[in-house]
Amino acid sequence: MFSPQILLPGPTPIPEAVQKAMLTSMSDHRGALFAPVVERVQHRLADLLQLEEEGAVAVIPASGTGALEAAVQNFFRPGQRILSVSTGAFGDRFAKVAESHGLLVDDLPFPWGQPFSPHDVMDRLRNNSYVGILVTQNETSTGVLNPIKELAQLLSTIPPETRPLYIVDSISGVPSVPMRMKDWGIDVVLAASQKGFMCPPGLAIVAAGGHARELSQKISGRTYYFDLAPYFQGQLPYTPAVSLWYGLDAALALLTEEGTEARYARHRIMAHMAAAFAAAVGWTPIVASKYASPTVTAIRLDPGQNPQQLRQQVFRAGLQIAGGMGPWHHDVVRIGHVGAVSPAMLYSGLGIIAHFAAQAESGLNAAWEVWHNHITI
Ligand SMILES: Cc1ncc(COP(=O)(O)O)c(C=O)c1O
Repeated sequence: MFSPQILLPGPTPIPEAVQKAMLTSMSDHRGALFAPVVERVQHRLADLLQLEEEGAVAVIPASGTGALEAAVQNFFRPGQRILSVSTGAFGDRFAKVAESHGLLVDDLPFPWGQPFSPHDVMDRLRNNSYVGILVTQNETSTGVLNPIKELAQLLSTIPPETRPLYIVDSISGVPSVPMRMKDWGIDVVLAASQKGFMCPPGLAIVAAGGHARELSQKISGRTYYFDLAPYFQGQLPYTPAVSLWYGLDAALALLTEEGTEARYARHRIMAHMAAAFAAAVGWTPIVASKYASPTVTAIRLDPGQNPQQLRQQVFRAGLQIAGGMGPWHHDVVRIGHVGAVSPAMLYSGLGIIAHFAAQAESGLNAAWEVWHNHITI
């Protein structure tokens, strides 16, 4: 009767308004009923990401990995050399996707749980020539928010003729964290529908600034389906995921209603609540608060405590949380607080987790204290 609550780093709960919008009757995706939806979604996305006027947004039917795959083939040619900066599993994935397209990928990995160092990236660039840099804004596997703005500032000191194209995977970042493509100087941003956008999985978003868009026109060797040229010209070349577009349209209206700053604050508060809870029950929130992701918190359990067992226990009590990835599989859980999740929903979920923690009461008090200090009525 009750669906288990979701505190995952995606997919996330879906608001009722979005669910209802997705039930809208099918219409001709090239007809008068659908056209305003497309226009509104593209306009709102461009606004949200602060895309330059010469830029364009492609919304393609794919999961987030489709956005990564589209990016590597629309902005680079096989055989070109790029730098992949990785702070976890999704940074590693981006490098693999680029390699699969025949790019020569140099890896610059950073330890799990740490952000990348913009200065280390710049050191690499001083001694090498790259046509592009791939980074992850919000590394979902570790719960780290990377300093993409600081790196952009350093990159802006490189003359435009030799500056590598700066591509940011923000699949679990926007619209839960700020993204200002024009002010910061970010060429391409990648996103997906099933996280902060509060929609089901299925739409991948590629936003390209003016320079990136121009560059993409000179690139050949793309696969047919992921050629973004028609999308950047404002067309939808193949049948779009019509229902998901309706959902995204409604979700963007909710974002406007909530306000972007309020949205960012909601996620930040929940990250503090989750970390305070974890520390007070005696577990370890892994990432230092300065770099902690507003959308997902990675928690190291007590030695000997099995994360898979904890996940099963909380599932039986009515909650879904995520496990650790890669090297963190055996001792870490991840609590997501992205999408349509409120502090009240998080607190209720922490109440379930507390059943299986040693200092339950301290944990809940700590989370409540954070919430209480930020509550707005
Ligand atoms: C940062 C990041 N990049 C890429 C992906 C891959 O997205 P998808 O699973 O939708 O293909 C994810 C998914 O969690 C992600 O969090």
